[in-house]
Amino acid sequence: MRPATDMRKMSSAEMDITRNSMTPADALVVFGVTGDLAHKMIFPALYAMVKSGTLNVPVVGVAAPNWSLAQLRKKAQDSIRQAGKIDDRDALELLLSLLRYVGGDYNDPGTFEALKQALGDARRPVHYLAIPPALFSTVIKGLGTADLADQARVIVEKPFGRDLASARELNRIARSVFPEDSIFRIDHYLGKEAIMNILYFRFANSFLEPIWNRNCVASVQITLSEDFGVKGRGAFYESAGCLRDVIQNHLFQVVALLAMEPPAYQGYNAVHSEKAKVFQAMRPLHPDDMVRGQYVGYRKEPGVARGSDVETFCALRLFIDSWRWEGVPWYLRSGKCLAATAAEVLVELKPPPQRLFDDSAPAAGRANYLRFRLSPDSAVALAARVKRAGKEFVGDQRELYLLEEQPGEETPYERLLGDAMSGDGALFTREDAVEAAWTVVDPVLATHPRALRYQPGSWGPKPADALIAADGSWHNPTLGKVTK
Ligand code: BG6
Repeated sequence: MRPATDMRKMSSAEMDITRNSMTPADALVVFGVTGDLAHKMIFPALYAMVKSGTLNVPVVGVAAPNWSLAQLRKKAQDSIRQAGKIDDRDALELLLSLLRYVGGDYNDPGTFEALKQALGDARRPVHYLAIPPALFSTVIKGLGTADLADQARVIVEKPFGRDLASARELNRIARSVFPEDSIFRIDHYLGKEAIMNILYFRFANSFLEPIWNRNCVASVQITLSEDFGVKGRGAFYESAGCLRDVIQNHLFQVVALLAMEPPAYQGYNAVHSEKAKVFQAMRPLHPDDMVRGQYVGYRKEPGVARGSDVETFCALRLFIDSWRWEGVPWYLRSGKCLAATAAEVLVELKPPPQRLFDDSAPAAGRANYLRFRLSPDSAVALAARVKRAGKEFVGDQRELYLLEEQPGEETPYERLLGDAMSGDGALFTREDAVEAAWTVVDPVLATHPRALRYQPGSWGPKPADALIAADGSWHNPTLGKVTK
């Protein structure tokens, strides 16, 4: 959904927001440019943006080390090379020529003065905070004090807060310096092709709406599994855990897109409002609604406490107390060192009301369902039973593939950075939604069951199966079509 293409039903306040925010940025400032995120994600995204012609403004890197510009350029080249091959020398040269570097402590006002100098004539920079969350407020305040916030935008990386209180405080600080429409809270999941397709698929079709509710949907489950561990990010994981790292943000965003009401008009604020309402209608979690796990070997990872109880696996049962979803359980599960790397949604429908055939669901397994594969490739599949040839009334559940493809060329970071540069906030998250999502998980952040050990390569601790047992079983994502 593109913003502001139809203003018929927009309020004047919203029109102002849209007008102000749609002016293209004239510089990009990357705080934390010497860090891991810049290395893995940001430089490759910037290179792709230069290639596609969406980036042609100065890029000022800011970080603590006293680097030279030559060092930064080398870092950028190494990062791009590691992400794939350099197939456009001109684009690379252009990107390197756009780079500037400011080294300094974020607590030192001199760093922000040096940034001002480096920005030269630029008046509408985008400040990207690719830094540890503990530094967000220092940098935001520094930008305000140095007069670098006027007409600027700020992109804030996840995790946005570590609980409701800290998210509120961070929002308060950000709002004291930037207006809400200039704050871009990034969740890279929203830039994924398959996730954008959930919104499109739901509201570009009419057949879905009559069944997309508690009358026909028995349960919804979402799995984000990874077959690798914390990959050297032990210290970060110790302060986050799976619930904060991917569930409160990535998976909740997927829930919101699946559960939201149709937006009342074509404009991104309408989508944001409907998503926020989903979080507001979610029942706050109870410790009985969760199973926490930790893979064997996690405690030996660098940066991890020997007696750590941090979860590398989390399974949840959620309820959305709305007219549409009352009583429908939503199961969310994610973990490191599981049996596969994939993310999928399964929306299971209720079985037919009368069992006319011996092999009808639930006797013969799952009832009909819709499956959205989110990564590593995209798929939308609808499963229905069909009769086998022959005298007997027996059949199989088969998947009808509506979409089956590799993800698009554009990476989420490329898409989202481009959107922030042009002022398009559609794929970012709004203050009220972030706070409402924290309200749901807040009760179990400190009070929860202990993390149960599980073997790497498994599907997590066994009690996760008991959590879903009343409504069936987990669907474990695999490659290829499902025919049972
Ligand atoms: C990140 C988490 O936000 O998302 C990682 O910090 C996780 O722990 C990653 O691996 C998953 O996203 P993707 O796009 O790599 O599947």
